[in-house]
Amino acid sequence: MAAIQTVKGFRDFFPEACAKRNYIQSVWTSVARRYGFVEYETPVLENTELYKKKSGQEIVQQLFYFEDKAGREVAMRPEVTPGLARMITARQMGYKKPMKWFQMGSCFRYEEPQEGRSREFIQFNADIIGDGSGAADAELVGLAIDLMREFGFTEEDVVVRLSNRQIWVEYMERLGLDELQQSVLMQVVDKLERVKPEVSEARLKEIGLSLVELKLFMTEITAAHPVFAELRMNLEARGLWSFVKIDASIVRGLAYYTGCVFEVFDLKYDLRALAGGGRYDQLNALMSDGHVDLPSVGFGMGDVVVGLLLDRCADAKLKMDNAVTNALGCDVYVALADEGKRFEALKLIQQLRDDLRLKVEYSMQPLKLNKQFQMAEYLKAKWAIVVGSEYPELQVKKLSTRESRTVNLSEIAETLR
Ligand code: HAM
Repeated sequence: MAAIQTVKGFRDFFPEACAKRNYIQSVWTSVARRYGFVEYETPVLENTELYKKKSGQEIVQQLFYFEDKAGREVAMRPEVTPGLARMITARQMGYKKPMKWFQMGSCFRYEEPQEGRSREFIQFNADIIGDGSGAADAELVGLAIDLMREFGFTEEDVVVRLSNRQIWVEYMERLGLDELQQSVLMQVVDKLERVKPEVSEARLKEIGLSLVELKLFMTEITAAHPVFAELRMNLEARGLWSFVKIDASIVRGLAYYTGCVFEVFDLKYDLRALAGGGRYDQLNALMSDGHVDLPSVGFGMGDVVVGLLLDRCADAKLKMDNAVTNALGCDVYVALADEGKRFEALKLIQQLRDDLRLKVEYSMQPLKLNKQFQMAEYLKAKWAIVVGSEYPELQVKKLSTRESRTVNLSEIAETLR
């Protein structure tokens, strides 16, 4: 019988993949905490309606949804922002503003699996609720940059492409475009880099514009535009502005963005976006029928593209590989040279695990000493301790240097320290 495969676009996590995932999550968590963010979580399963109302057409087309046993239409979360808005509007009174919240967990989108895109991915989200200033935008963009730096990526590896939807709103009002025409223009801008110029030209013609006119307007949007001033000054003061490039073609597919928008891209491998987000000042009001009107800004970062880039940038990979080796390996391998001393060895193992909090491995079955040493190498143990007939005298071997010495059981803690 053929083996049952994973569902298309879903992943098994073997221990190495788990260690890599945990490393990515530990970077996300530690940097977010450094920035003062606290963790929250929304459910994995939601009422489909939540996304139909709040996310926009593209996400709705990609929903994993089904009817539950009671006939309710439910969907696996494709993103967490609408769920967060629900939480905020329900309980925001209980929290001082601004609220700086982060979460991470699996999201699901029915996309065509390809490099950088799968149907299940882990997304980190950070959002600031209750601060409508450019300083809050800068805190978020700064966090995205510092996450990249913590992974070991530099300005040569990644860039934050930044724009502001407000610029487009004003431009479209000036042109007198109606809602439908506005959405055509935004779609053209969003896909400008990915589709042939003739295709964009044809769509622009429908709304009375030409590609030349559009590109001319876009070249006028530079870092000197007043809409970027506060954000820029805040990031310059931190020495992070060099990671940012103003790029008017960033408009973001999701429906709820109202101001600053940005995406993080790699510079060498042409991978899909590593992260994306922006300001969404009307979503909370929309969610609460106008009762809660809190400005918000946030972004999401997925594990898939981050993982691809980690494998390709040497310094970042070295950092990750060390963390993975550490996670998979052990500190001490206790080898038995004399089966008669198994229970003495177990007592020692228990003490090392309990008192010194070390990761300790040994063979649960009798095994030739050379096989036990092979296992110690395989597990990348830092130390091997040989328990033999001379017990309580022990052989302690540092495996990186092969240096070995005899110590008494009573000296073992001191020796390992
Ligand atoms: P998004 O741009 O749809 O934004 O997703 C953010 C990131 O999630 C992407 O840059 C990518 O790294 C990852 N991602 C998205 N779809 C996939 C996929 N199919 N496979 C692998 N990775 C994927 C949002 O989701 C917004 N809710 C972010 C946000 C938070 N805005 C405000 N607060």
